[in-house]
Amino acid sequence: MKTILVLNGPNLNMLGLRQPDVYGHDTLADVEALCRKTGDESGLEIEFQQTNHEGKMIDWILHARNRVAGIVINPGAWTHTSVAIHDALIAAEVPVIEVHISNVHRREHFRHHSYVSLVAKAVLAGLGTHGYQLAIEHLAHLNR
Ligand code: DQA
Repeated sequence: MKTILVLNGPNLNMLGLRQPDVYGHDTLADVEALCRKTGDESGLEIEFQQTNHEGKMIDWILHARNRVAGIVINPGAWTHTSVAIHDALIAAEVPVIEVHISNVHRREHFRHHSYVSLVAKAVLAGLGTHGYQLAIEHLAHLNR
């Protein structure tokens, strides 16, 4: 069975508690359950991770090389700051879908630029946690 790596960046462990007006009431555990259900329905194995440490995120991305069929990543604030995550995603050489729960383009100007979009096959923003499901379904479609 092919594997999809779902990666979550800083502060996403606070989902459900943090700014529910912006990010909704689903917790990270709810998002993980949604991803696993979508994986089961799509015949894909899901590896689900969250970290507040950039180096750890980079290690997971690089370890994906030659091993997984795709990466779904919500890089959180690193979206807007991290050349290192951008470089790691290129080195991984697997299809990347960038997901944001909120519509970053309706928010502060500093959220409008993404280092990850430059290397992502697609970007889903503003669909809430449903974006994760759609990203996994698209990777399943590509791997059919
Ligand atoms: C986010 C948007 C980012 O700008 C923010 O820093 C986050 C979450 C989102 O899912 O909407 O932490 O990636």
